[in-house]
Parts: sequence; C-alpha cells; structure tokens
Amino acid sequence: MATSPKRIALGVTGGIAAYKAAELLRLLQDQGHEVQVIMTESAQRFIAPLTFAALSGRRVITDMFEDQPECEREDDSIEHISVAQRIDALVIAPATANTLAKLAHGIADDFLTVLALATRAPLIVAPAMNVNMWEHAATRANVATLKARGVRIIQPDTGILACGMTGAGRLADVGVIADAVLAELARQQDLRGEIFLITAGPTREPVDPVRYLGNRSSGKMGFALAEAAHRRGARVLTVSGPAAIEPPSGVETVRVETTDQMAEAVLDRLSEATAIVMAAAVADYQAVEVARSKIKKEQGALTLMLEPTRDILGEITVRHQPNQLLVGFAAETDDLLENARAKLRSKRLDLVVANNVTQEGAGFDVDTNIATLVFADGDYKALPRMSKLELAHCVLDELVKLRLNRT
Ligand code: PMT
Repeated sequence: MATSPKRIALGVTGGIAAYKAAELLRLLQDQGHEVQVIMTESAQRFIAPLTFAALSGRRVITDMFEDQPECEREDDSIEHISVAQRIDALVIAPATANTLAKLAHGIADDFLTVLALATRAPLIVAPAMNVNMWEHAATRANVATLKARGVRIIQPDTGILACGMTGAGRLADVGVIADAVLAELARQQDLRGEIFLITAGPTREPVDPVRYLGNRSSGKMGFALAEAAHRRGARVLTVSGPAAIEPPSGVETVRVETTDQMAEAVLDRLSEATAIVMAAAVADYQAVEVARSKIKKEQGALTLMLEPTRDILGEITVRHQPNQLLVGFAAETDDLLENARAKLRSKRLDLVVANNVTQEGAGFDVDTNIATLVFADGDYKALPRMSKLELAHCVLDELVKLRLNRT
C-alpha cells in the first residue's frame, strides 16, 4: 500500500524481541518513510542504540532530558512536543507489559510514554512478553482500555517463547506490524475533499420547565466518527445533542437540545455536505403540550400525551443530492438485520450501521460497539466488538469504497 513519505516514531521497549525492531525499521524505511527511533532505558540493555542510529541515519532518542543537537532542531519547542506534533504515526514494538500498563493509565515517566500522551497521531502497539504476563488479568484489562481508546493492538503470536514456555506472547511478525502501520498511514488523507455532516448524542424533549424525555446516548459513537473522519482529512461538521463528552478538536460543532433544533441545524448545513452520518439517538416522541410550570406530584397519576417528533432522516431523504453519501444508524433490540434493511429501503440509505443495543459492550454509553453494516445491495458485514473509534474507521472504509464506485 503506497503512501506519500510520512514521519513515523518507532518506540522500542525492553524485551528479548527488541532486536526485531531493527527489521521493522528497515521495512518502514523501504516504503520511503522517515523513522525516528525512541528507546526506553531497558530496551538499551537488549540492543544498542547505535544499531538503530546506523540503520535510520538519525540520533536515537534515549533520554527525556538529553540536549537535542542544534542541527536537528526544527523549531524552538521542547523535543517531545515537537516530535509529538511532527509524526504521522507512533508504533511501539515490542511493547512490554509495563509499557502497556503505563499507556493504559497515562503514566508518562520517560520520553516514549510522554510522547504517547502528547501526540495526536495514531498509536499502534505490538506487545511481546511471557504467556502468563500476557494472559494476566491486569494486562488483559490494560489491553481492553487501550483498544477502547482506539489504540491498534497487534495480537502477539503463539509459539515457544524466549523464557522456554509455550503460548501467546511472541512479537507478531514484523511484516504484519509494518502492514498495520502502513494501513494506518494510507487511511490518513483518504477523505480529503469530503465534508462530513455527523449527528451525535441524544435529543431531549421538554415536558415541563424541569423535566424532559431523553435517552442514554453519550455522543461517543457520533464523536468517534467525527474524530476518525477528521483524522482522515475530511472537514467535519457535527450537530450534537446534550452529550456526556466534549467533541473532538478540529471539528465544527453546533449544539442543540431538541429534535426540532437538530432537524433545523442539519437541514441548514445539508447542502454543504458530501456525506451525512446520522449517529444521534433522536427522540421519537415529544409532549403534545409542554407544561409552563413544574408538574406537581400531588396531582397523582399522570398521563402525558405524546406525538411523533420530526423524522430528520426522512426529511434528508427527500432533499439530499444523489452524490451525497447517506448513512443511518439502527438501534435495535430484536430482528436486527430485518429492521435495518427496512430502514435502509424506506430512507434510501447507502449504508445502515445496525447495533443491537441489548448486547453487552454495544450501543449506549459504552466505549465499544458491536455492529452489522448493511448495504443497499442487500449485502451485510457483521463486525465483532470493537472500540467506537475502530468501528468509525470501518464505516469510513466502506464509504471510501462507495465513493470510488460512484465516481
Ligand atoms: O452516543 P452513544 O452513547 O455512543 O451511543 C451510540 C448509539 C447507540 C446512540 C448509536 O450507536 C446509535 O445506534 N444511534 C442511532 C440511534 C437511533 O435513534 O436509532 P433508531 O433506530 O431509532 O433511528 C434510526 C435512524 O433514524 C438513526 O440514524 C437516527 O439518527 C434517525 N432518526 C431517528 C428518529 C428521528 N426522529 N429522526 C431521525 O433522523
């Protein structure tokens, strides 16, 4: 997969597989990329920095407080910040259990872990360790945390380990690691020129001055899509209901409360968009009459008369242009595929992301999702549980293909 030359930081941590990072460095350089190696203190006990310096033609960063030579400075900023801002990807191979734990908990006590916190570039981590360490509940939890955050973990191979034991823990094949890094880089600008209009979060329908009808959407799915599209070069406009989290940086956000406000904001920006993704959990009903004063509980049993809200997707369907890609979500509890296909047909969508919101690790207010992508030609793709950011990238991968087929 050829991409224009990029800057990659390669973090090497202390494990017997550290020497394999030299081959990874070579593979990445063979693709024309510039690689800056960073070694932890323990990595230097396994392999000398000189090896990586000779192969990369660059000084290896080994110390947080080392003076950066004048000739290597690109600006006046502190080295870890300038490296963090310059790089297009950070790959850590091999990554020890200790490094995984530090990454998961935001501990930043050496150059590599500071860099991992300071950079916005995608992080790819290839662990290698003893099988018992890999299978330990603490490591499993750290890996789950990192995956949920959108870190790409390259599963270690199974075989005879350096310690003599057999099991999972060998560093994955360096070719596999290089391919994962190259795939990440290839994604980076594949949405350049696209303008994404993405809805996120819930809508709230007032009942009286203090109460509303709402749902448990946190905004995580919509904002993951926004973040992924932005990272891949698209201009992103989000229309967000009252979400539990902040929108990602670099995207324009219009904040709304009710379905009516969301509909107005979306229709207002519709003509600018080249792709529309409706990830918001829009309220389906609103009170026929909103009480002007707080409804008192002393009045006993309460009957609320509700009416359907505006069908935003339905309004988009009749207005959108044929070249605009249109994606809907389907939050289902039963008959996932059937219901998703019905939505796809009635709203003339290009793609439906169907999630069974009763499954553990899927749907509302969790960091992961389990989705089936349903296409207009009747085909579908059932995806395993993954972070919402990973799912966002899978959805965008499909949109890139649909766009290619349409031009
Ligand atoms: O925000 P999170 O906590 O991360 O949770 C993510 C999510 C569960 C909200 C998300 O994955 C999801 O499923 N979003 C769609 C929820 C939903 O409203 O599904 P639905 O099946 O009721 O609606 C189908 C589609 O019509 C959706 O694209 C919805 O945005 C849209 N819709 C619904 C009602 C309405 N009045 N107007 C609409 O446009």
